[in-house]
Amino acid sequence: MYFKNRQEAGKLLAQKLKKYKGKNVVVYALPRGGVVTAVEIAKYLNAPLDLIITRKIGHPYNPEYAIAAVAENGDLIGSERELELVDKEWLRKEIEHQRLEVKRRREKYLAGREEITAEGKTAILVDDGVATGLTLRAGIRELLQRHPQKIVVAVPVIPISTAEIIKKEAEELVALTIPSDNEFLGSVGAYYEDFSPVEDEEVIKILKAYDRQRKEKAKQISSPIVAEQIDPILFSFSTHKYMVEKLKEIPNLSIGKFDLERFPNRELHLILHTHVAERECIVLGSIAPAEENLVSFLLLCHTLKKEDAHNITAVLPYLAYSRQDKKEYQRSYATALIGDLLKASGVDQVITVDVHSLHIKQLYPIPLISLSPAKILAEEVRKLNIKDITIVAPDEGAIKRAEAVRREAGIKNELAYVIKKRTANGLKLLELHGKLSKTVAIVDDILDTGKTLLACCKKLQEKGVQNIYIMVTHGLFSGKEWEELWNYGVKRIYCTDTLPLPRQVSSKNITVLSIIPLLVEELKEEYAGVFTIEKKDRYSFFDYDEP
Ligand code: R5P
Repeated sequence: MYFKNRQEAGKLLAQKLKKYKGKNVVVYALPRGGVVTAVEIAKYLNAPLDLIITRKIGHPYNPEYAIAAVAENGDLIGSERELELVDKEWLRKEIEHQRLEVKRRREKYLAGREEITAEGKTAILVDDGVATGLTLRAGIRELLQRHPQKIVVAVPVIPISTAEIIKKEAEELVALTIPSDNEFLGSVGAYYEDFSPVEDEEVIKILKAYDRQRKEKAKQISSPIVAEQIDPILFSFSTHKYMVEKLKEIPNLSIGKFDLERFPNRELHLILHTHVAERECIVLGSIAPAEENLVSFLLLCHTLKKEDAHNITAVLPYLAYSRQDKKEYQRSYATALIGDLLKASGVDQVITVDVHSLHIKQLYPIPLISLSPAKILAEEVRKLNIKDITIVAPDEGAIKRAEAVRREAGIKNELAYVIKKRTANGLKLLELHGKLSKTVAIVDDILDTGKTLLACCKKLQEKGVQNIYIMVTHGLFSGKEWEELWNYGVKRIYCTDTLPLPRQVSSKNITVLSIIPLLVEELKEEYAGVFTIEKKDRYSFFDYDEP
């Protein structure tokens, strides 16, 4: 995940902190860069903003290399081993010097403004990113002395090993991206398009402007700070009306109304019947077929934004056009286009189920959350109650999702998988890897025409497999070719309800599983605003690596 600038990162973080809106919260920024990010959060939460000033202690022979950090109260945090090695007298003087510098900065930035007490409140400590975490940890030390009820750390990026330390020192960690240590790009700046240094003057300007803004707001409303209406409104297209009843389980959700009509010239026209200014909107539907659904979807989102919706979450259980995700010479690159169109129409984030490939998250210019149906599919594998069963991935792209189902279902047999090979004369050959049982379950994301699965079933039959169960997330069932599957050992096809089954498709051997509980769980959490490391682990197929 990359951010345009600190401001954008702050806005994205604010979304993840929704549940603190209107609550007894103080936002504390670590200057200088953290102030630009923090003010966006403070604005969104309607919360006071203050500073926690910490200073790094550089190594005596290499000042760029931080060995410790000092809090405003003089508390020192750093590696004991490093601190042991430096001259004690030098260290004492350096701590004193940095404490004076902290004082000087507080005076310069806040010019006598009183500290905002954290006592009994939720303190949200914000920086523009974290690498070693020394500064942040010194900040936590400082905050602890101010007796908040709870400390929440909010940062756009933090490597996982630092995140694990912070999770032990603060009650909650909210981050937009938590790369593994190997994937961490080495510096926070690498996650930003614009990471230009923030000068003292900018910090002062931001703080002054924010104070002014709060004073004006306080004058306008006689009561101090009122909690704003943040209950979400759900707008659903007819393609997904079967989900609406269940989604009503989301606390305080209301249902938005709109009409779509066609002019005689076939142009679509949307009329909104619900007031959405400053409200959180969820738009549920489909973008395929594009001629009708994509345009309607974009028109609705665009109208919501135009009417000042605060935030729009597009819920597209099946993310159509996600298989055109490669940049190939003279071919359309529809996945990238759809991401751009959603953003241009005002969508702030997309929630989908089992996105075709992880790299689509990078192609989309807005956050894309993909929920894994592994648990739901694994439950069906368990219910089959077959002792000797092999899970099969029908192509390379399906290996991780099939492996996730195998593990979740507790299947001991190793995964088998098929890969496509091209021969010298251009013919495509299927190569099967792994040991097979008489009964197998093939796991894939999409059953479209069924060609991929048919080829796989034929191969499995050649190898003596007798019973095949198919488990896919999205059942498109295009055309008739997929019906051939019944002639190649397929006993049952399981798919989920990310899309309604096409009308002509009915078979007592097709089981449709509901992913609605997944969506409800995710949306409940979204609107509680929490984003933790656990959540990442819980949902992603693709982070499923060998332990
Ligand atoms: C391929 O990469 C996908 O994961 C599916 O296996 C494929 O797109 C399904 O399409 P069809 O059913 O038309 O073979």
